[in-house]
Amino acid sequence: MKTILLVAGARPNFMKLAPLHEALGKRRESYRPFVVHTGQHYDDRMSDVFFRQLGLPKPDINLGVGSGSHGVQTGKVMIAIEEVMLDLDPDMVVVFGDVNSTLATAITAAKLEIPVAHVEAGLRSNDWSMPEEINRIVADRVSTLHFTTCEDANRNLVREGVSEDSIHFVGNIMIDSLSKFLPMAERMTVAEDLGLSDYILITMHRPGNVDNSEQLRKIVEILSGLAELAPVVFPIHPRTRKNIIEFELSIGGDSILGNKNLHLVEPLGYLEFLKLEKDAAVVVTDSGGVQEETTYLGVPCLTVRPNTERPVTITDGTNTLVGLDPTRVIELAGEYIDGRSAGKGRPILWDGSTAPRIVDAIDKFFDIDSIKIKESIRTGEEVEVARASSP
Ligand code: UD1
Ligand code: UDP
Repeated sequence: MKTILLVAGARPNFMKLAPLHEALGKRRESYRPFVVHTGQHYDDRMSDVFFRQLGLPKPDINLGVGSGSHGVQTGKVMIAIEEVMLDLDPDMVVVFGDVNSTLATAITAAKLEIPVAHVEAGLRSNDWSMPEEINRIVADRVSTLHFTTCEDANRNLVREGVSEDSIHFVGNIMIDSLSKFLPMAERMTVAEDLGLSDYILITMHRPGNVDNSEQLRKIVEILSGLAELAPVVFPIHPRTRKNIIEFELSIGGDSILGNKNLHLVEPLGYLEFLKLEKDAAVVVTDSGGVQEETTYLGVPCLTVRPNTERPVTITDGTNTLVGLDPTRVIELAGEYIDGRSAGKGRPILWDGSTAPRIVDAIDKFFDIDSIKIKESIRTGEEVEVARASSP
């Protein structure tokens, strides 16, 4: 029996953890999944709602680290998770994505000589001003297994000297959650409740866009221009909300700049957000995950960033990279509202079966089949060595 520590901390981790938790749970004879929430995100709408909607049990442990500077947050996770690792003595630690909790956990496990598996390895924006780029590169450097979503990630890893044997091109685990929960999301009525049919959906939270008043003013300009085109729904990330208030950018009641076409809402639950995303005329974002989900859903996406670590969403999907240029964003959004097609396509292996492929690779790593055979010889019981990914 292998104990697998699954560690998540922030919103984009939970929909990546859930499918792997489920796939490992189906293999109770071989694996004991143990879920640690670092507490990096802690508001109900940034955290608990995902556990409820994704059908995840409460985390086995919540480290409760909360917010703080990069050093404080990373350090607190390292101190707390080291204790968990020493107590539990896991056989493997799995980390997801590129948040501070990913980095802190990966480094701590590697120093305790516990094998680290990184889900969503190899993505690169080549922009070191992004904290996520540092987190991704360091996590990959100390990982034993690299699970990738796309072929450019494989190439990035090889270029950095990562052993090809450790790279497993398994597809996008976020799409496992998306495809599983889409039918349930279809029942959500957020747009109807707001009285909307054709609308633009926008999310913004990257420090490069919202932490500086000049940049954030441009985001407000984008919001106001988009609202001239169509109703805009803007679920506001707590970082962005805090800065809008701090920089005293006008928020009047539930409208910014007094614009009634702008619907500012709290961060949404996963199901509510998926439904809004699927039915949007166009999505404007700086999120990593939203670039991928819109590609899978075939919805046009304008990414307000100078670069992306997910170029496959441009080459094979519906994403367009637009810098922080209000005129260009508004012009392109207008074209999509007028019916321009974003093209369609789904990257290879974004098929809803990534988690079982990851379990197969973990089986191979531990040589689970031979462990089972040895056990069956000892007990005299017949053994089934089915692959997790077989239908
Ligand atoms: C983090 C990740 C980012 C990811 C994003 C997803 C890092 C370095 N950044 O950014 O990669 O895209 O999550 O949403 O790990 N806050 C609350 N309630 C919460 C959580 C945060 O109010 O539940 C506020 C706090 O004021 C906090 C701020 O949001 O200081 C930022 O939170 P933090 O976790 O540091 O970074 P994010 O911007 O959320
Ligand atoms: N998401 C959500 N509610 C929201 C905004 C986003 O459930 O109000 C989901 C979205 O569907 C995707 C994930 O959160 O699955 C993306 O997380 P986020 O944008 O916070 O982080 P990033 O992907 O940029 O790291």
